[in-house]
Amino acid sequence: MKSLVSINDIDKTTILKICQRALEIKTHGFSKTLPDKIIATLFFEPSTRTKLSFQSAILRSGAQILNFEADNSSLKKGETLEDTIRMTSAYADLIVIRHPEAGSALRAQQVSSCPIINAGDGTNEHPTQTLLDLVTILEHHGSLDGFTITLGGDLKYSRTIPSLLHALANFDVKIILASPQLLSLPDHLKANFQDKIILQTHSLKEGLKSDYFYMTRVQKERITGTTDITFEEDWILNKNLCEQYANQNTKILHPLPRVNEITTDIDDSPYQLYFTQAENGVYTRIALLEYILGVY
Ligand code: NCD
Repeated sequence: MKSLVSINDIDKTTILKICQRALEIKTHGFSKTLPDKIIATLFFEPSTRTKLSFQSAILRSGAQILNFEADNSSLKKGETLEDTIRMTSAYADLIVIRHPEAGSALRAQQVSSCPIINAGDGTNEHPTQTLLDLVTILEHHGSLDGFTITLGGDLKYSRTIPSLLHALANFDVKIILASPQLLSLPDHLKANFQDKIILQTHSLKEGLKSDYFYMTRVQKERITGTTDITFEEDWILNKNLCEQYANQNTKILHPLPRVNEITTDIDDSPYQLYFTQAENGVYTRIALLEYILGVY
């Protein structure tokens, strides 16, 4: 039984297969490849794009959604995650889960009788975001090799970053780390990717000299303690900075939602690729559902 709990659950060949299938769907249109399947979407944490694009992917591929509202469920009566998953897996062919605790998707997989897709577990991982990031780069660059990508912003608490790093390790890419000092990539993660990291900087301007600049917001809800971290003025990306410091063809990616770290004057500029990235979420998630449910 296939699941996607960590991006490391799939190898390079599978990553490429899913990305190519996503672009095929984008080019040729939707088809009902998953009739009669029931897919449960269990979101224990706020979500806009991930939840809606999964639900859109389910409906576009002809499957049915079993929806779950954490506020109206037996969780309120004190039911454990394990019991909720055991039951739901008896009602559905696949479970998509987002949960605030790191490791929750793995816990779900351990008791589930159907496949699990991790739609974000605390600060741990967000593998489906990574797949759509790669689909967007593959579509734009034509390959997942031969480019430089800057991972920027909150590299300490963003769960999109570990998943993306693990996936990029499969490809011939150069990585720049650019973050405010307090939000640097933890050392244990950095150690695994030393051969690909060509620069670590605390300057946004320096990080802009790259083919792709992947910005992340400050993950305020995951920062415990009293320090109220926000990006200073020199960490707000605007069009003027792109024009001064980026390469001519640099593209800006962002998993979204943005708060204030990318100003709206970039939206209609040639640098913007983040809305295409969000749109690619639907094609990517259909391709992933098909893969997990054995269509290819
Ligand atoms: C990301 C997440 O939930 O980790 N959002 C998303 O799924 N597109 C990034 C974020 O919330 O900053």
